[in-house]
Amino acid sequence: MYITKFSRLGAHVIKGLTRGETPTPRVQYTQFLYSRPLQDLKHRFFSSTAAGNAQEGGDEDKEKISVTFVDKDGEEKQIKVPIGMSMLEAAHENDIELEGACEGSLACSTCHVIVMDMEYYNKLEDPADEENDMLDLAFGLTETSRLGCQVIAKPELDGLRLALPAATRNFAVDGYKPKPH
Ligand code: FES
Repeated sequence: MYITKFSRLGAHVIKGLTRGETPTPRVQYTQFLYSRPLQDLKHRFFSSTAAGNAQEGGDEDKEKISVTFVDKDGEEKQIKVPIGMSMLEAAHENDIELEGACEGSLACSTCHVIVMDMEYYNKLEDPADEENDMLDLAFGLTETSRLGCQVIAKPELDGLRLALPAATRNFAVDGYKPKPH
């Protein structure tokens, strides 16, 4: 979601520059951010590194939430996810088979997850139009489906349970063929 917002702001910056407008401080900051490599941006906004924890100075466990992934066979794996980290990143760090072919750029639906409790689903930020467009292409779409790269850990989501669908489809790579996990 942050990346989407930045994309919109970036478009605004480019329009302003082509019209010859003098950038405001906010726009100048955005230009600075756009000059940074994507990995660096991800690190700044989604990182939960030791350095980030040290800056906030809190107890490490208090900065993490408990999330359970349930695979297609019903196997459960509970992990701790740092606040600010996406479920896609958390899955990858814990060897959970959530593909994420586009690495969170909202260009696939292979990070499709199903929020198992409506109560938790309602605590999530509303999906952006781009996420809804990708979800429409997801295999086994449900009422509580989301893209794992867009679900960001926050304290209210402690106890979140996410089911992995039986298959994903990556229209960009394999031409709509469902791909088992
Ligand atoms: Fe492609 Fe989430 S990884 S949309």
